[in-house]
Amino acid sequence: MMPGCAAGGGVTGTLALDNGTIIPFRPIRLGDVAALQIFHRTLSPQSVYHRYFGIVPELSAERACHFAVVDGCVRYALVALDPDRSGSIVGVGSFDREDGTRRAECGIAVADDWQRRGVGLGLIRELLRAAAWRGVGTAYGYVLPDNRAMLGLLRKVGYARKTRYERGTVCVELSLADATPDA
Ligand SMILES: CC(C)(COP(=O)(O)OP(=O)(O)OC[C@H]1O[C@@H](n2cnc3c(N)ncnc32)[C@H](O)[C@@H]1OP(=O)(O)O)[C@@H](O)C(=O)NCCC(=O)NCCS
Repeated sequence: MMPGCAAGGGVTGTLALDNGTIIPFRPIRLGDVAALQIFHRTLSPQSVYHRYFGIVPELSAERACHFAVVDGCVRYALVALDPDRSGSIVGVGSFDREDGTRRAECGIAVADDWQRRGVGLGLIRELLRAAAWRGVGTAYGYVLPDNRAMLGLLRKVGYARKTRYERGTVCVELSLADATPDA
């Protein structure tokens, strides 16, 4: 276990949306497998395509289990929850660290009915804060060029950003090293 990985792993917080809604979030846990599968069904085919770069009609139990079982340091994820139904996931953000480096690949998805309300921006900021706290210096993500939502979100997130084209995608790198995102 790396220094700084143990403490803080169970921290739960809230995202305050502009319309006053308060969204709880917490680290993902093994018990989330079924909720992740249900969450997947709340994503439109386009959202699924943007997240997985392919057609994924159902999230298999095996894949959901892979997402839900994290060590909290090399692999980490946060789930945002429906304020009226706490077992119901409305957003998932995760990072996966490259072995032995300070670089981590990030991914995020928000249920279609919850998009454009600030959940994605709030969740990714919390995820990046958690990543920096765990020693990640560079967070990166591959984004399809037509994914205006994610490219817009990454422009707004507040960290220094570099972009390059790689294998038909836009690779966006955020430098977490010595930065505090804009409020
Ligand atoms: C990308 C995604 C996570 C954004 O989540 P969200 O909760 O809708 O985003 P927010 O409401 O926090 O928006 C934050 C900013 O992102 C940008 N943005 C979000 N959706 C947008 C859209 N449809 N078109 C253009 N810009 C958009 C805007 O700049 C927005 O700020 P604004 O609302 O003040 O204009 C969501 O669209 C999603 O889950 N998409 C499918 C999965 C995906 O593409 N994942 C990324 C690949 S890993």
